[in-house]
Amino acid sequence: MTVCLKNQIFNLRTKAFSKTIVFLPNTKIMAAATYSRVTTRSLQEMKSNGEKIAMLTAYDYTFAGLVDAAGIDLILVGDSASNVMAGHETTLPITLDQMIYHASSVVRAANRALIVVDLPFGTYQSDSKEALRSAIRIMKESGAHAVKLEGGAQAKESIERIIQAGIPVLGHLGLTPQSIYKFGTYTVRAKEEQEAEQLLEDTKMLEKLGCFGIVLEKIPATLAKQATESVSIPIIGIGAGGSVDGQVLVLHDMLGMNKEFSPRFLRRYADLDKVIHKAIAQYTEDVKSQDFPNEKEQY
Ligand code: KIV
Repeated sequence: MTVCLKNQIFNLRTKAFSKTIVFLPNTKIMAAATYSRVTTRSLQEMKSNGEKIAMLTAYDYTFAGLVDAAGIDLILVGDSASNVMAGHETTLPITLDQMIYHASSVVRAANRALIVVDLPFGTYQSDSKEALRSAIRIMKESGAHAVKLEGGAQAKESIERIIQAGIPVLGHLGLTPQSIYKFGTYTVRAKEEQEAEQLLEDTKMLEKLGCFGIVLEKIPATLAKQATESVSIPIIGIGAGGSVDGQVLVLHDMLGMNKEFSPRFLRRYADLDKVIHKAIAQYTEDVKSQDFPNEKEQY
């Protein structure tokens, strides 16, 4: 059951002040003071109050509506759409137009969550002007609230320019899937001292540049804890342990729709693969046996 009480916080869409408290199902009288529209400021408040931030991906209208209604704080229109929606092996092939299509579908469904969109590979690496043009297209054409891009020092100028234009940026360090051909493997990053030190430096640099948060992907939990304690902006982890400020997972993975993918960090909250298979097999059988449609299911 979800109960909402209104009280005081600024809502970007209605331009009114209100605050929603959501009592989540398994937490009895929880906890999560959430907002009628989550903003970068609310996320900062959550970190300051020690309230964990929940983030999931979504790529379409129907799922985004479900995710938003269930009380998620942040929706990431991730370039993982390249894998889970389009069936590519990596995140590299997805285009800016395709990301904008996914993002605008999500924006139409979500009333409460802050919506962050990945800048896809090849739209920000060559120079900072191109990076800004890509970020502006995402904001203007999709109506999303922020962009995410991968990398530390090498992305400095682009991040700076995008933030200067008034666009909120979420950083992404550790395992950055757009660099998979450089890494050669999806295994845990920053286990060695040099890479760990670079990650800590990049974390501080992203905070200094004005990023409103950072995703840390697949790094040792102790390093993620150190990074989290070293900055005042929220750190969202995926495969980075429990000491970070929030967690993100790919929706299709946590719903059990993608059985081939089972890294140690993934917890499955449903077995939709089985549920969907069973429903479709039953429908097929009913059509073939002429059980469907019955008398009541026709005009
Ligand atoms: O694209 C994506 O889904 C991501 C998350 C894994 C953080 O970047």
